[in-house]
Amino acid sequence: MTVKTRCAAFISGRGSNMMALVEAAKAPDFPAEFVVVVSNDPAAGGLEWAAGQGIAAVAIDHRPYGKDREAHERAIDAVLETHGVEFICLAGYMRVLTPWLVEKWQGRMINIHPALLPDFKGLHTHQRCLEAGHDRHGATVHWVSSGVDEGDIIAQAEVPVLADDTADTLAARVLVEEHKLYPAALRAVMSNLTKL
Ligand code: GRF
Repeated sequence: MTVKTRCAAFISGRGSNMMALVEAAKAPDFPAEFVVVVSNDPAAGGLEWAAGQGIAAVAIDHRPYGKDREAHERAIDAVLETHGVEFICLAGYMRVLTPWLVEKWQGRMINIHPALLPDFKGLHTHQRCLEAGHDRHGATVHWVSSGVDEGDIIAQAEVPVLADDTADTLAARVLVEEHKLYPAALRAVMSNLTKL
């Protein structure tokens, strides 16, 4: 029987990458399961979907914490502890993490970024790709390290940039690939972890 690592997904919005991960993890031979979905935004659409899947869906609003980002993350971390989480997948989580959380989960936390890193770290990647005139774009799954979008690359997927692309059409083409890339990358990471 496949041993499934207990994972959390962090979201801030619609959560389509989280959904792709959860769906993939339903396969009996997938080496991970999602036991909790955490959002910093109580209005995140993905929370309701996760709850409907029978997954604990927890909103920890960052706003009451003001500037104390670490206190917000300590509250999240307590939830992870409660659910026996062993591994974190950031999936459209729009907060920059503090060094405290990054260090605590070093080697056990990955992210998906909608660009071919090291190109276009940060926000508005699709628009910036168009403005730069690149003919290819894509998505990257990488380890989370202290620099934003700077950890070691695990896997990438490429798409062409078309002449009539807008940021929206390009984003949609990349998103299709993200939904395949993230589960495949998580599977690969888990296989390597279990060999350690
Ligand atoms: C995705 O493009 C992801 O790569 C980026 O933000 C978007 C989130 O989309 N970090 P979703 O919430 O997973 O649908």
